[in-house]
Amino acid sequence: MKRYVNKTVLVTGSSQGIGAACALRMASEGAKVILNGRKLDERGEALIRAITEMGSKAEFITADISITAEAVRLVNEATGVFGALDILVNNAGVEKKHDFWDVTEEEYDLVMDTNLKGVFFGIQAFVKYCMAGKKPGVIVNMSSVHEEIIFPHFAAYCASKGGLKMLTRNLATELAPYQIRINNVAPGAISTPINKSLLENKELLNSVLENIPMKRLGKPEDVAAIVAFLASDEAAYVTGSTYFVDGGLTWHYEEQ
Ligand code: NAI
Repeated sequence: MKRYVNKTVLVTGSSQGIGAACALRMASEGAKVILNGRKLDERGEALIRAITEMGSKAEFITADISITAEAVRLVNEATGVFGALDILVNNAGVEKKHDFWDVTEEEYDLVMDTNLKGVFFGIQAFVKYCMAGKKPGVIVNMSSVHEEIIFPHFAAYCASKGGLKMLTRNLATELAPYQIRINNVAPGAISTPINKSLLENKELLNSVLENIPMKRLGKPEDVAAIVAFLASDEAAYVTGSTYFVDGGLTWHYEEQ
């Protein structure tokens, strides 16, 4: 499949994990890719090389999307790199584990500013760009199963992803007249560095697997495949939805 020939995509937080998989998947289908992270390190450089070897193009823009001005600058710079920006994948996200009563304002702000505020104003910059050029656009947000199901000790994370759910529902209606689509992808437990402590704790991992009907963690590529579908013209009539990529975790039922 070559669904992204002549398309440029910006993937935030794409040095590793799900973001890197999305960048590689779309590049393999012809996309020119703008990568992003707070700094360019060897992982980003390796990704640029891998994409170039595929015969596509990649550039890296350094920006901390938890800072509103940076999130806006990232999108504005991305529109100029390859002459246009067609797709925005809001992937960067953070989580912090704490009992609710111990969450500091600093932690709350980091989670909310990265997962919701930076996404909000990044989308706003992208929408203004699309409207100014009277061009269509596609937005895919990396939400989580925790936009829907609880995650004790991760209250700020759940609040941020729950907010993302309603942001997407709301914007789908507001942006549809401008030919801009927006959807969420909600991964379950995916094998990435964000889950380092889970992957290193066999007992905890087994208890997580008990709740996943497919009895395995997801791979970043499982998520990237859905992102690549939603961002493509194959999903031309899809907006305001959340697609769960969770091996059945969200709606599983324990038979007694
Ligand atoms: P990860 O931690 O492996 O990768 C996240 C990337 O985002 C990292 O490269 C990080 O440096 C970057 N990033 C973080 N804050 C940033 C900022 N302020 N500005 C720019 N870049 C920043 O995480 P993973 O697992 O790949 O997660 C990606 C997204 O998927 C996140 O939004 C996360 O909430 C979501 N997700 C992940 C799940 C999982 O099980 N791995 C499950 C559900 C949702």
